[in-house]
Amino acid sequence: MLAVQAEGADVLTIEGLANGDELHPMQAAFKEHHGLQCGFCTPGMVMSAVDLVKTNPKATEHEIREWLEGNICRCTGYHNIVKAIQHAQQTM
Ligand code: FES
Repeated sequence: MLAVQAEGADVLTIEGLANGDELHPMQAAFKEHHGLQCGFCTPGMVMSAVDLVKTNPKATEHEIREWLEGNICRCTGYHNIVKAIQHAQQTM
């Protein structure tokens, strides 16, 4: 998406997800379940996961893995990312 295409839209970034010093439940779940290593992919993973849980709060493990298909993580092997999202499904 080009920036001009977002004109007039609300844009939520990873920086805007937390409430001050309080992490968003998805951010907290990634931290608790070690869903990141180098952190390069983490903002995209977290934002995508938040959208998934809003769209499909009861997503299965298979659906979570499919949803993340376009987000590439070179570090974690996705196991802990999926665990974090499953935990956040309970807390969001
Ligand atoms: S945590 Fe390193 S690329 Fe995902």
